Order: sequence, then C-alpha cells, then structure tokens
Amino acid sequence: MSTKIFSLILLSVCLCTASITRHGGGPVRPCCVKYTPRNVSSKVTGDTYKEQHAGLGCVHAIIFSSDDGQICANPNDKWVKELTANMKKI
Ligand SMILES: *[C@@H]1O[C@H](CO)[C@@H](O)[C@H](O)[C@H]1NC(C)=O
Repeated sequence: MSTKIFSLILLSVCLCTASITRHGGGPVRPCCVKYTPRNVSSKVTGDTYKEQHAGLGCVHAIIFSSDDGQICANPNDKWVKELTANMKKI
C-alpha cells in the first residue's frame, strides 16, 4: 500500500524532471505547468508571444514576456485573448 503511493510520487517527480530537461543539451526550455490567475496585461512587455502545447505536465499556455521573466497565461482568459489580438506569435 504505502510502497504503491511512494512509487506514484516517484513517478510524478520523474515526469516533472523529464519535462524540464527533455530537450537535453540546450538551455532549459520554459514549461508552464500553471497559469497566472490575474490579469497581468500591464506587466507584459514587447509585442510578441509564444504558444506552448500541453504535454508531460505542461499545460497549453500563452507565454508573454515581462521584466520579471516569462508569464504563463490561460489561452481562454479574456485579457489574454485581448492582448494576443494585438501581438505577433513567434
Ligand atoms: C486587463 O488589464 C488591462 C490593463 O490594466 C485592461 O486594459 C484590460 O481591460 C483588462 N482586461 C480584462 C479582461 O479585465
């Protein structure tokens, strides 16, 4: 019983690590696992965004740039749609 739970935890840890280091060799590829819960459109810099597809613990997300680094946003959020409408996908 507890061995099973331990294996499950171990497995999920392995999956997470794999999603971060999957593209070994190069720099760590950003992977969004959750979305920013608020409208942070005022923090977004630049006029380009990236789209991340779901897989290996990563969620389908829109990635914006900001002075604090990358922002992971929900493609279904209204503010995200408004923002990407005026931006270029890269
Ligand atoms: C999000 O915030 C921006 C800037 O503060 C504002 O212009 C925009 O209307 C907001 N969008 C939504 C959906 O709340």
